Amino acid sequence: MAKVFIEDLQGEFVEEFIWPSVQANAIYEDRYLLGTSVARPCIARRQVQIAQREGAQYVSHGATGKGNDQVRFELTCYALYPEVKIISPWRIPEFFNRFRGRKDLMEYANEHDIPVPVTPKAPWSMDANLMHISYESGILENPKTHAPVDLYLMTKNPEDSPNTPDVLEIEFLKGVPIKVINVVDGKAKDSPLEIFSYLNEIGGKHGVGRIDIVENRFIGMKSRGIYETPGGTILYQAHLDIETFTMDKEVRRIKQGLGITFSELIYNGFWFSPECAFVRDCIARSQENVEGKVQLSVFKGQVYMLGRESPKSLYNEELVSMDVQGDYDPCDASGFIKINAVRLREHHRLQGLSGSK
Ligand code: ARG
Ligand code: SIN
Repeated sequence: MAKVFIEDLQGEFVEEFIWPSVQANAIYEDRYLLGTSVARPCIARRQVQIAQREGAQYVSHGATGKGNDQVRFELTCYALYPEVKIISPWRIPEFFNRFRGRKDLMEYANEHDIPVPVTPKAPWSMDANLMHISYESGILENPKTHAPVDLYLMTKNPEDSPNTPDVLEIEFLKGVPIKVINVVDGKAKDSPLEIFSYLNEIGGKHGVGRIDIVENRFIGMKSRGIYETPGGTILYQAHLDIETFTMDKEVRRIKQGLGITFSELIYNGFWFSPECAFVRDCIARSQENVEGKVQLSVFKGQVYMLGRESPKSLYNEELVSMDVQGDYDPCDASGFIKINAVRLREHHRLQGLSGSK
């Protein structure tokens, strides 16, 4: 008996996967916002839920045997349905001897009237979801080859984007957005999916969130990827801003390290692991006071901060002001600087003794 399930997981994708990533400022190797990586545990979780409900012992996926996605899908499956058996055609010799690569597959699809989005005009692999689109392989495998201008589907080329910015106010509570208002036309969104979709629309319109990178795959090889993450990029900037405004400096430093760990766990497929649950909880704890409003403009591929306000801000205008003294004695700074200089002066003195610089 064959059954097909097509489900809309966008709501849970935003609230359970994208929001924790926003709280963490999750980013892999300083540039990639992990749009494919966070979607995999969401998809695979639903897949095994359905498999268990239907009494299926096997699940399958179409990721290649060379990439990250096979690891992410399968680790999620094993973590949530330990007895499951996995069929991964790209790793079965009968399959990969018959279909040597994407070209053989395209030919097969052609011969059997199977519609596929890959054409000789767009010869690359695409993974699209609510958060981003990734483009890899095909003509992009040569890292020197520039992406064709018409590759991008979610974002406008900044050169052709509007000549007037959109100004947004994003309101955060516990490190996640709860409302976005377009200051220019008064449009407002306040459900997670609507907020994220709207930020995609505005970011896309202004060409925000395009990157072209070479990254390190979990399995050891480097790969070239082109990604567009319009809404995610706006939120990354806005969240960083409100977080620094409201969070204690030392908590922020520790939390930043956890964010890197979290990003690597997501990238490597360990969303459902004890260590990732632990890190996620710590990060969520750090977000308790991350609330307030950020105003920003979106224009020509960029996000510009305009201002921020928060009832939980640790910013003390009087304390930092260059015009008033506040509760601070400038004379204390002399001792603070001198104590910090002890080590530097010793270093210089001892370097001087040994004759080197
Ligand atoms: N390299 C990115 C990642 O590992 C994107 C993978 C894209 N997947 C795909 N099936 N085209 O997250
Ligand atoms: C794939 O291997 O199917 C896509 C690329 C990746 O997962 O890294």
